[in-house]
Amino acid sequence: MSEKPLRFAVVGLGMGQAHCHDINDARGAELVAVCDLVPERVEAMTKAYGCRGTTDFAEILAAPDIDVVNIATPSGMHAEHTIAALRAGKHVICEKPPEVTVAKVDSMIAAQRETGKKLMIIFQSRFEPLYRRLRQTIQDGRLGRLIGVHATVHWYREQSYFTCPGMWKGTWALDGGGSLANQGVHTVDLIQWLCGPVVEVYGKYGVYAHDIEAEDKTVAVLEFANGALGTLTSTTALYPGMDTELIVHGERGTIHCQAGLRMWRIRGETPEAEAEEERQMMELYGPGDKPAGSVSSDPFAFATRGHLAQVEDMVQAIREDREPYITAESTRHTVEILNAIYQSARDGRPVRLG
Ligand SMILES: NC(=O)c1ccc[n+]([C@@H]2O[C@H](COP(=O)([O-])OP(=O)(O)OC[C@H]3O[C@@H](n4cnc5c(N)ncnc54)[C@H](O)[C@@H]3O)[C@@H](O)[C@H]2O)c1
Repeated sequence: MSEKPLRFAVVGLGMGQAHCHDINDARGAELVAVCDLVPERVEAMTKAYGCRGTTDFAEILAAPDIDVVNIATPSGMHAEHTIAALRAGKHVICEKPPEVTVAKVDSMIAAQRETGKKLMIIFQSRFEPLYRRLRQTIQDGRLGRLIGVHATVHWYREQSYFTCPGMWKGTWALDGGGSLANQGVHTVDLIQWLCGPVVEVYGKYGVYAHDIEAEDKTVAVLEFANGALGTLTSTTALYPGMDTELIVHGERGTIHCQAGLRMWRIRGETPEAEAEEERQMMELYGPGDKPAGSVSSDPFAFATRGHLAQVEDMVQAIREDREPYITAESTRHTVEILNAIYQSARDGRPVRLG
């Protein structure tokens, strides 16, 4: 017997447009309503998907035929909108970052526990098969003790990117910062999810190529709880933009990712076995053909299929009454790390976490 699809609404129709697209394609989901303060954005989505639309979030909260609300409003509004939706009896999928401060993430976690509704945060990289494989490999101890974790988010954004409804991008209050809080946060989340908690950070930031309040370049040194040392660079000022790069190395080998797998070398029983493992991994996860646009230079080239996987996971989580794959709790440390990097840069000294 086929189950009725769960009924979704999307609030915030910038990135939220991709949510509409993915809900429309996802198994077990149906898009019934959209909401934005900008009427043209609402109209474009109601026309494209044949759903209803509103400029009033309260209408979404009051609608009895909505099971799940996707929140894609400015980052510093996520707690307010998520908590209102949870308290109105809806399950919530909230865009990254969950919020801009740890205290606000904690308020979302508290509301989720109090209401018993599901709350999932979008961090689509965690759904990428290569990163899932890498995480399992690290957890299985195949790299041995981790030594280094090195990530660069060398992206480019035109000044026009920062012109958006409410002019919130690149502000401390609503974006939580700049290149680190908005773009680099995917990679901050990835490295803490892959390599474990961070215990100390030292950071520097500045504004170089944009007229914005926060920063368009941040550099940080990280110490992980397992002793590994890391470096992280995020920028939206590197013209024309490069693919995000991640290198993880341990006692027994190195894995290098940039637009797919570049190197997978783990000491094997023989040189032949080692080469064969890399060959197999390259076949599965190697760079291959790339689409013309990349998110490193084009904010609209994001991997929407990761969002589709998250929508389908939420549908299953509700049906099976289990936690979604990405809980708010599991993303709290991400917000803690990026705020500690900013704090360190302001204070001019390392900051201990936790
Ligand atoms: N996962 C990803 O790859 C990804 C990519 C881009 C953006 N995002 C996230 O999505 C969120 C939105 O970013 P964006 O780039 O789409 O910004 P945006 O400014 O283009 O869109 C936000 C929309 O929210 C609307 N909004 C604000 N307050 C509202 C309210 N009370 N009710 C209804 N609508 C309201 C605005 O009018 C605007 O259209 C951010 O948290 C951002 O970090 C995630």
